[in-house]
Amino acid sequence: MERVKTGVPGFDDLVEGGIPKGYNVLLVGQPGAGKTIFGLQYLVNGANLGEKGLYVSLDSSNEMVKSQGRRFGWNVDGLESKGMLSFLRVPLDKPKINLFDILVDEVKASGATRLVFDSLVDFAINVDQFVVPLSPVGGPLADEKEQETVERYNKLRYSVLPATSEKDRAFYKGGSAKRITYLVINELSKLGTTNIIITDEKIEGEHFTVDGVSEYVCDGVIVTYNQLIGAKRARTLAVLKMRNTNNSPYIHDLEINKDGIKIKPAEEVYV
Ligand SMILES: Nc1ncnc2c1ncn2[C@@H]1O[C@H](COP(=O)(O)OP(=O)(O)OP(=O)(O)O)[C@@H](O)[C@H]1O
Ligand SMILES: [Mg+2]
Repeated sequence: MERVKTGVPGFDDLVEGGIPKGYNVLLVGQPGAGKTIFGLQYLVNGANLGEKGLYVSLDSSNEMVKSQGRRFGWNVDGLESKGMLSFLRVPLDKPKINLFDILVDEVKASGATRLVFDSLVDFAINVDQFVVPLSPVGGPLADEKEQETVERYNKLRYSVLPATSEKDRAFYKGGSAKRITYLVINELSKLGTTNIIITDEKIEGEHFTVDGVSEYVCDGVIVTYNQLIGAKRARTLAVLKMRNTNNSPYIHDLEINKDGIKIKPAEEVYV
């Protein structure tokens, strides 16, 4: 199995040398846990190995993402001007954005084989802004009317949320945040890139993520924590799952130093 090295010091050893090529890996974590830095580091390291990367941001400006990298001395601007790194900010103030077409176009145009999507939560909050494909995802449709709506929209290939008629609105009531999240992940996996999909952690409850579905749909899940221990916050990381991989079962220290993120071996956590 071909594996894609993140190059984040200490991380690849936790997953048999890297993320299996073409996988969707969810990076879940609390605010400030280091998700954006991890994602950018994955792309910068790839670019330095000759693999092109695309950073898709739904909230932060490209400048905000790049400036974090510059602080660590990463050559984000040089790599961008050589076409090894691309930054796409999806505008959230323009209605009816066809995110999926944009992603397909950008992946093609950039030649990226690594992609970071930051973040699923920003997508879900702004879902009304987006055009979402309507191919039925599993399970029989409720009735003929629903079938008709799907067929009609499938002809157009995409549909717009929120629905414009009462009839469609009724249909979309069944299109929960879970389903929409499922669709996004599904679309991302069709791109052929190896993806890190960033999302927020749900603090309470049985699920790791806010949507409660992405952790099952993705091929791998990395969890980052930014927890209060005594009077100090400590960052840690764990690999919750990675299909086809004997991944580390431990919680590892995650350090952000002048060079970026570094993951420590498990032994150091327990000394
Ligand atoms: N140059 C630096 N040196 C050390 N620590 C840094 C540096 N730059 C950022 N940090 C730490 O990293 C944190 C931000 O990391 P990052 O943006 O990757 O978090 P995140 O998980 O993406 O957060 P959010 O949920 O807000 O998007 C900052 O809050 C800061 O504590
Ligand atoms: Mg972030």
